[in-house]
Amino acid sequence: MNLFATTIIDWYKENKRDLPWRDTKDPYKIWISEIILQQTRVVQGYDYYCRFMEHFPDVETLAKASEDEVMKCWQGLGYYSRARNLHEAARTIAEKGAFPVRYEDVRALKGVGDYTAAAICSFAYDMPYAVVDGNVYRVLSRWLGVEEPIDTGAGKKLYASLADEMMDKSRPALYNQAIMDFGALQCVPSSPSCLFCPLSDSCVALQKNLVDKLPWKARK
Ligand code: ADE
Repeated sequence: MNLFATTIIDWYKENKRDLPWRDTKDPYKIWISEIILQQTRVVQGYDYYCRFMEHFPDVETLAKASEDEVMKCWQGLGYYSRARNLHEAARTIAEKGAFPVRYEDVRALKGVGDYTAAAICSFAYDMPYAVVDGNVYRVLSRWLGVEEPIDTGAGKKLYASLADEMMDKSRPALYNQAIMDFGALQCVPSSPSCLFCPLSDSCVALQKNLVDKLPWKARK
């Protein structure tokens, strides 16, 4: 029994946000949502995602669209290289005939890094790849009391392996969504409500009075 995973999954079932990209296993839709959310908050990304899906409901439509149409839909979101990469990757996928199904092939798409590949493969295919984003750094560093900085090569490696170890590999999609929402809603950056946290009894940072200090960064 994995106390950590079980607790956050139970918490998630009670507290999860109802988001449109969670009602689907379509890798295309999940990919688009994750690219939008890379540098954009959920509240802002929500409308863009819905509009993008209306204009480009599948990868073939996106591949065939003009650069102008794609950029128009992205206008206001910023980081426009995301839209250009997305368009290029859509053409690659359309040429191959289907969305890639192997982690390595998903990771090879233009604009897709470790985080996004893990999100797509876990959410769409239930493959056991742990997502590691800012939420995950915070939750793991606090609960485990990890004082290694998150912005060094060694730190990133350590967190990648801890994230993999902590994940419930029998429920990858559920677990990854749960830890992200737990970080976004419960284990928030400043002044989290530890009194109401289901993991407080076993949280190392809380016991050591380090909640406000973690995750640690080498460079401020
Ligand atoms: N931020 C990035 N990906 C997300 C997702 N799938 N759900 C909620 N917030 C996110």
